[in-house]
Amino acid sequence: MKLFDVYPLMDVTPVSGKGCYITDEQGTEYLDLYGGHAVISIGHSHPHYIQRIENQLEQIGFYSNSVMNPLQQELARKLGKMSGMDEYSLFLCNSGAEANENALKLASFATGKKRVIAFNKAFHGRTSAAVSVTDNERIRANINKGSEATFLPINNVGLVEEELKSGDVCAVIIEGIQGIGGVQIPDDLFLKSLEQLCKKYDCKLILDEIQSGYGRSGNFFAFQKADIKPDIVTTAKGMANGFPIGGVLISPDIEARHGMLGATFGGNYLACAAGLAVLEVMESEMLIKNAAETGDYLLTELGKMDGIKEVRGRGLMIGLEFDTEVAPLRRTLMKEEHIFTGVSSTNIIRLLPPLTLTVEQASVFVRALGRLLAP
Ligand SMILES: Cc1ncc(COP(=O)(O)O)c(C=O)c1O
Repeated sequence: MKLFDVYPLMDVTPVSGKGCYITDEQGTEYLDLYGGHAVISIGHSHPHYIQRIENQLEQIGFYSNSVMNPLQQELARKLGKMSGMDEYSLFLCNSGAEANENALKLASFATGKKRVIAFNKAFHGRTSAAVSVTDNERIRANINKGSEATFLPINNVGLVEEELKSGDVCAVIIEGIQGIGGVQIPDDLFLKSLEQLCKKYDCKLILDEIQSGYGRSGNFFAFQKADIKPDIVTTAKGMANGFPIGGVLISPDIEARHGMLGATFGGNYLACAAGLAVLEVMESEMLIKNAAETGDYLLTELGKMDGIKEVRGRGLMIGLEFDTEVAPLRRTLMKEEHIFTGVSSTNIIRLLPPLTLTVEQASVFVRALGRLLAP
């Protein structure tokens, strides 16, 4: 059987990883500033992470959600404490799209309404409701068009209020920092207004922190810089350093009932062990502080560089926008400088490294890019 060919692949085959580096089958080592698409939070093959998962596997690897699983409670407690969102409850699932799918469903359950407001360039996943609020016609099939979504420009409060006035909107969904949209940061004031408007018009504010959350921005969640309390927060990617997991953080005024949500694999023992290992390493190695500091270094140094149209981002979520297509530059960075980077659209390089990236490692990239952009 051949693979269903849906991914354009980079010409490299990683066989091992350690910290911020991955090694390919020829033994070449690459600095990983892409983190497998913002997933590698505590670094590749962290010893504590390996130990936690191995120990768990020796005890019990899986049972369904029909029995007590104290690891889920431990994960919820630790996540609540570290994120400062103790009063929320946690629903565990397996991916980012699934987290958003459940978040949208909850908003609709809670309000009885169904239209959603999303924003231009948004990406929220590929399942049915999630893709209906993703601003990319090419990845929406007819079957996904049953959900009603309205796309608006980011940072325009007036347009949001106009739509909310019609009274049929169950949710406003927004990324803490837009990722695939090219590292676009919503204004703090805009997020504050969304919080107020959602209360006023009885709809739920959903913060998609799947890419921007879990310490990446230098806050636990990017929206926390705006000092708001969303109704629902979704998380995935960095949450278990590559072990599939997703989470929905739900405010106390949304009431649970049995059967409302569910997932066979969600919150399984191994996923919880991996998730706990991530939080433990984030805490002991102070990775949120590190993301903020190394991110500041990168933003400052890259901001001084000629040849880049705009540098934007927070912490270790950084976009470098160019006037031209970046594919040749990324290829050279990989082939000649042995540095992995990500991309948004065709002209933005996206940096999403492990949160363990040191200033010294970041400076390797700064020097390499400086050389390549020199006239
Ligand atoms: C902001 C955001 N939301 C949702 C998703 C979907 O996550 P997943 O691929 O785990 O379904 C992504 C993935 O890139 C994302 O960046």
